[in-house]
Amino acid sequence: MMLLELLKKRSSVRNFSKKVISKEIIDYILEAGRLSPSGGNEQPWKFGVINDKNLIKRISEIAYNQDWIAEAYLLIVLCADVVGDERGGRDIQKARFPELEAEIEKMERELYSKLNQEEHQSKIAGTHMVLAALEHGIGSTWISYFKVDELSKLLGLPRNFIPAEIIAFGYPEDKKEARIKKSINEIVFYNKELND
Ligand SMILES: Cc1cc2nc3c(=O)[nH]c(=O)nc-3n(C[C@H](O)[C@H](O)[C@H](O)COP(=O)(O)O)c2cc1C
Repeated sequence: MMLLELLKKRSSVRNFSKKVISKEIIDYILEAGRLSPSGGNEQPWKFGVINDKNLIKRISEIAYNQDWIAEAYLLIVLCADVVGDERGGRDIQKARFPELEAEIEKMERELYSKLNQEEHQSKIAGTHMVLAALEHGIGSTWISYFKVDELSKLLGLPRNFIPAEIIAFGYPEDKKEARIKKSINEIVFYNKELND
């Protein structure tokens, strides 16, 4: 199947069946994440595979009681290595926003790490995983809305790894239409044509 055909089939799935996702497919999904690009090839991430029912239930509570999460077969927690971020990321942000260099430099480390990881590179790995799952008919939904520190504690993560995102996976219970997206005209500009 061509990539665009696959993408047109994707929409966030929050209604999962009980069907088992095989070990082979889980490995396939993880491999897709492993192969993703990162700045300087630092690969500043760890992928937490959560398939324990009780743990998934606890995580649904930590995600502000989003009940649908408890029905997922599998969660993958994308953890950002904030040491890698601190080394390369802060310098990159200073270079990108030279007028903010001084502010970025003096930003306290923990604050910087926590604010920075929402935009973290692990989203690319997650996108690979979502597509790899979709190839096998497995649906998913991204989750950003959760208590980061509580999840770190629950999973016993070392301080330098922050859970940046969770992705819930499972076979869809029912067929869902894709959400309407903005048209190409609304979101693309060529050269200097962007007017407000
Ligand atoms: C980074 C990110 C974080 C998200 N966090 C949540 C979340 O916490 N809870 C949720 O129900 N959906 C979450 N979503 C799913 C979005 O609501 C969904 O992608 C959006 O409504 C578009 O629908 P579609 O994925 O079906 O195209 C998130 C999506 C992204 C990309």
